[in-house]
Amino acid sequence: MEVVKEQWLRLHEDVSNKMIEISNIQNYTKALDLCTGTGFIPKMLRINYDNIHSVVGIDNDPTLIKSLKNTSEDDITWICSDVEKYSFPKTDIIFCSFGFMYINKTKKLLQAIENSLSADGEMIISLWDNFGPEHLYIKIKNILYDYLGLDKQSINESPINNYRVLLKQFFPNIIEIPLTYTIEHKNYKEFINFLIERELHFLPIAQKEQLYQAVLEFNLTNDSFIEEANVRILIAKKR
Ligand SMILES: C[S@@+](CC[C@H](N)C(=O)[O-])C[C@H]1O[C@@H](n2cnc3c(N)ncnc32)[C@H](O)[C@@H]1O
Repeated sequence: MEVVKEQWLRLHEDVSNKMIEISNIQNYTKALDLCTGTGFIPKMLRINYDNIHSVVGIDNDPTLIKSLKNTSEDDITWICSDVEKYSFPKTDIIFCSFGFMYINKTKKLLQAIENSLSADGEMIISLWDNFGPEHLYIKIKNILYDYLGLDKQSINESPINNYRVLLKQFFPNIIEIPLTYTIEHKNYKEFINFLIERELHFLPIAQKEQLYQAVLEFNLTNDSFIEEANVRILIAKKR
């Protein structure tokens, strides 16, 4: 499992670095990072951008935030809160890397984000754009969704389009940057379990036990597997 986790961490950090690089960060003084996870974005902003006077990292996982408060020596404000309940301060730039898929009321959150951004402000988010390779991930999802009796229509649709439509309601100016990462998974079975774990996030709790039972029915023998992971960065500007 370690190999898989390390690769994901590297991918997340690379995407975060790209998000910072393509932003107008040098023109701003205040930054917010929603669903901050390991706090990589706030830490990078603190290290590399003297113009940033205030950095806030928010996550609803108390363990993560406690550890960030204990270990981070930098002048960063770490807040444990559900971003959907957070009362946004005025800010110039808002990052959200691989966080929007956890949001229930996206429109309401986008309204709060739009209100909090300064006139020249921007929001930068990253999202998965259909996981690859389609033949494996989609196949697994189809089997699982069949097993669980869930509606399979959403499996083959890229979620990006929904976000695109929603973002356009709040931000007139949207730029998209597609990225593709190749990840080698040495241990096929562990990777499958990793995918399943991720699916758990999106399922109602009552179905988790059923899902674990479905996983037991997989008997995969291949040992190595190359995955093409498609990511999209969306930059939403107020003008
Ligand atoms: C996939 S991780 C991404 C972490 C980091 N942004 C990155 O790119 O590596 C998603 C993070 O969002 C957090 N999260 C999920 N739902 C949230 C919510 N409603 N409010 C705040 N944080 C949330 C999780 O605790 C997790 O740390």
